[in-house]
Amino acid sequence: EEDLAQIADLPKVELHLHHEGAAPPAFIRGLAKEKSVNLSGVFREDGSYAYRDFVHFLSVYEAATQVLQTPRDYARLTTALLEECAANGVIYCETFLSPDFCGGGDLGAWREYLHAIREAADAAERDLGVTLRGVVTCIRHFGPEKSRPAARCAAETAGDWIVGFGMGGDENRGELNQFLYAFDMAREAGLKLTTHAGEWRGPSEVRSAVEDLRVARIGHGVRAIEDLALVDLLAETGVVLEVCPGSNVTLGVYPNLAKHPIAELRDRGVKVTVSTDDPPFFHTNMRREYFNLANAFQWDADVLRELTRNAADAAFCDDDTREKIL
Ligand code: ADE
Ligand code: ZN
Repeated sequence: EEDLAQIADLPKVELHLHHEGAAPPAFIRGLAKEKSVNLSGVFREDGSYAYRDFVHFLSVYEAATQVLQTPRDYARLTTALLEECAANGVIYCETFLSPDFCGGGDLGAWREYLHAIREAADAAERDLGVTLRGVVTCIRHFGPEKSRPAARCAAETAGDWIVGFGMGGDENRGELNQFLYAFDMAREAGLKLTTHAGEWRGPSEVRSAVEDLRVARIGHGVRAIEDLALVDLLAETGVVLEVCPGSNVTLGVYPNLAKHPIAELRDRGVKVTVSTDDPPFFHTNMRREYFNLANAFQWDADVLRELTRNAADAAFCDDDTREKIL
């Protein structure tokens, strides 16, 4: 038990965290009250987020974002989520930021949101010792048309702080190659790439992410385990998986942590990392993820340090920033 507590205290690097999905329910409720936004159906009686399944989760998530209306709201959210990161021993994290929620794809508005978020992040770095970088995401079920202005926002703000481009949302909608234009635009702007794949759909989706979108990392990617030739390809090419075990178990991708493929993927040579996805939605945090993994797979501190190292190596930041977190 003492060992587990020590493992949970290790410094951590988190690569897969949705900015809005990190909002504590009390934070969203507070903003709803301030702005007189009716969020009935978003919360259970006990105050937690209420959803039945993945698709319903996405719609509750989007309902909650209705109270995030201004750059100032995002600045406050940034402070809240980085306080939570720091409390969990996270020293570096990347969050997914969507122009669709921050100005609706308008570049001028997007710049204002980013400015406010960065100011809050700089203050948190100074005060809490946690470094934030942004990965711009389009949202798959919003469709390929919306992915283009999102990619343009990403390309126009690419640099030392916006370091990547990716895609979240409902994997069961549309096809990855419909988003080629957006990913190509982002790559040409110098951004590193990641996409959600292999959370809901099977191995062919992961293969398409690697071969068509040419991403360096995959969000989840866990269903790659159903095709061992693909697992070998991931291992050989060094494509990194942003694994979110607690999210997968809560959403029912796997029945429990013991049945989760993260250990087998690692044993087969895949570079795996650990993240929370949307911590308050899934009743998790980074300490809990490390604790539960150590417990379920008898992983010692060296294994958890290896996962942190994988994440630092796969972070999209520049090498100066990376050196500070290694
Ligand atoms: N958006 C927020 N969380 C997500 C997840 N787990 N999968 C896809 N899109 C998301
Ligand atoms: Zn995600």
